[in-house]
Amino acid sequence: MFLTNARIATMTAPSGYGMINDGAIVIEGDRIVWVGVLADVPSDHETQDATDLGGRLVTPALIDCHTHLVFGGNRAGEFEQRLEGVSYEEIARSGGGIVSTVRATQQASPDALFCDALTRVDAMIAEGVSTIEVKSGYGLDRDTELKMLRVARRIADARPVTVCTSFLGAHAVPPEFAGNADGYIDQVCIPTLQAAHAEGLVDAVDGFCEGIAFDTDQIARVFDAARALGLPVKLHAEQLSNIGGTQLAARYGALSADHVEYANAADARAMGQAGSVAVLLPGAFYTLHETQMPPVAAFRKAGVPMAIATDCNPGSSPLASPLLALNMACTLFRLTPAEALAGLTRTAAQALGLSDQGQIAPSMRADLAVWNVTEPAELAYRIGFNPLHSRIFGGTL
Ligand code: NIG
Ligand code: FE
Repeated sequence: MFLTNARIATMTAPSGYGMINDGAIVIEGDRIVWVGVLADVPSDHETQDATDLGGRLVTPALIDCHTHLVFGGNRAGEFEQRLEGVSYEEIARSGGGIVSTVRATQQASPDALFCDALTRVDAMIAEGVSTIEVKSGYGLDRDTELKMLRVARRIADARPVTVCTSFLGAHAVPPEFAGNADGYIDQVCIPTLQAAHAEGLVDAVDGFCEGIAFDTDQIARVFDAARALGLPVKLHAEQLSNIGGTQLAARYGALSADHVEYANAADARAMGQAGSVAVLLPGAFYTLHETQMPPVAAFRKAGVPMAIATDCNPGSSPLASPLLALNMACTLFRLTPAEALAGLTRTAAQALGLSDQGQIAPSMRADLAVWNVTEPAELAYRIGFNPLHSRIFGGTL
């Protein structure tokens, strides 16, 4: 495939868009083999049958690096409760919240979960997404956790999209273990992780480190089990309070610490030293009326790459639009449009440990999005508007 007459945001540079005007891209198989100014295309490349992109913007296809998009039911009722003044934590402590989605997910058939998830996947693909991370964590028992992960894997067979799975057994304490979070971690969570790994269902291991979920010692045991299996870790940390999750994640060399609104400058430095990505989730910030901003300036200062994701889930972020997450990252968190676009491309790939995605450069996967705009800032600037022209997945239009 030979693409010409494109404005290419390569996203290869540590800052800015890495723009190439009057650009061309040569694709062989599922790989990019050459990118540059049209006039410079080497003569040994196959340049017949060019596809003229009419001056449109081309970016790496978008990567949503944090979702919980496989789940049963919905929580519109809790949305109403929160608007009547009940907090997310109060709902969780009174048996609603994550645990109510757990009940619905346990009851749902694999096919029902799959069909429901595909509606959200399709919405993301329609906005130029090529890679989606999907977490378990609404099972909290062995069978349902495995059911969720198998459904997540099926998505990649049914749609042209790459799926990365994260095992999130340590998401909430199920009612049958109330007051015994340690028992849940040792008797259910870790053995289920081992079973899921044996079935090839786990790409990374995640947890929820929070007052309403698990403390750092409990998460550390899950991370030790992950390490023994050779699996990378990531963590929901410092979303509602600061209990040391970010520092713990950094000590384990986590791919990312996610949410991190309550992280501080020392946390940012620890992440910078560990090379962990800060995954910012403006959809949850918005939905929960959060007012504590993630420490964006401290992340910049400590050289922590920031990624952006939808956190698509039925409770804190019923958001299936990465473009809206892009806009929210700029408007709510004051990221520059270039930082935000990197957060849905290059740094999102880094948060998933994917070294061959998220940039337009030779040897990268040919996952591209072509947009009916000319300036990359237009992607973040518009609200509720999808300018996708076409999507190329693994070299196929
Ligand atoms: O990323 N923080 C924990 N987990 C999800 C919320 C899940 C839910 O409320 O169902 C999150 O925000
Ligand atoms: Fe999440």
